[in-house]
Formats: sequence, C-alpha cells, structure tokens
Amino acid sequence: MAAIKIPADKVTITDAGKVTAFLAARGIDYQRWTPKHSIDADAPAEAVLSAYAEEIDGLKAQGGYRTADVIDVKPGTPNLDAMLAKFNREHWHDEDEVRFIIEGRGLFHVHPPGENVFAIEVEAGDLIRVPRGTHHWFDLCGERRIRAIRLFQDTSGWSPHYTDTGVDKGFEPVCFGPSYLPAIPSQR
Ligand SMILES: [Fe+2]
Repeated sequence: MAAIKIPADKVTITDAGKVTAFLAARGIDYQRWTPKHSIDADAPAEAVLSAYAEEIDGLKAQGGYRTADVIDVKPGTPNLDAMLAKFNREHWHDEDEVRFIIEGRGLFHVHPPGENVFAIEVEAGDLIRVPRGTHHWFDLCGERRIRAIRLFQDTSGWSPHYTDTGVDKGFEPVCFGPSYLPAIPSQR
C-alpha cells in the first residue's frame, strides 16, 4: 500500500482511502491490483503481462495506452546510476507515467501547481498513473530494486522535459513507508 508524505506540512498519509482520495484530488489515479491467478514476482515478463491482462486492457481502453512492457531494475543493472539520474530531477512528460509495481519500491515526488511538494512511496501491488504534464521526479529506495509494468500511449513521447527549478534538491530521496510487511501479489 502506498504512503504519502508532505514534508512542508509534516503530514504522512497511510490510510488506503485517504491516499486514494488525496491523489485523485490532484488528478493521479491510484489502485491496488491483484492478479487473476498467482504469479511469482520474478516470472517472465509475458507471464506477468498475462496475469494482469484484464487490468491492463481496462487501462488501455480508458487512457488510450497502446503498449505495455515490464521494466526490471536491480543493483546490478548496467548504467543504473546514469539511468536514475535522468529521472531524479524535476521533469514532466508529454504522456502519462503509468506504473504497476510488481516487486521492489520507489519514491515519486510530485509538485502540483501552487501546492507543496508531496512524496508517494509505491510498492508491490500499487498502480499509479501520473498525468502528462505533471511535474515530478523519481528515486529508488535503499535496496535499489523495482520491477514494474509500464503502459505507453506512444513510447516516443516518454522522455523527460526538465524544469531545472532545482526544487528537487530540497527533498531527501529517502523512502519512509510503513516498513514493509510484504504485500507481494504472489504471496496472497
Ligand atoms: Fe517521469
């Protein structure tokens, strides 16, 4: 279950309904997905996509997403630091950033216009859809592990446009969530 922190307000939100409502009020969809049949977190990408086919098809119909893939990031991933450095500065995209977390954790910071920055920590079972144009940045948590389904309207649109405001420098990329009783779908 995702958790939200608003550092400037010293507020942390962990209640599922409140997390969903807080994000919805800012245009961000948040859902919990459970696979139709049990699936290991390290199953082949095709098996993962197949286990969540119904949810993926629903999102495609709703958001005009055309393709889905599975991204795997682990400490041994070649050029990991260079890859992460592309996304840990405030940026936005021409298309939605849609992620369903299969394994690992990650930290999105979101900077809504005229509002304080808030952080969302996501973990296995979390689907998040950050609308195109939203100012945000992303970091991995300490274990530097994330495996996620991504959906794309058009992969060519998914490149970062940097704001270069430097606002990201005021926030520690430290995960905070309720320290992780595993909620891995395959274990349910
Ligand atoms: Fe992004």
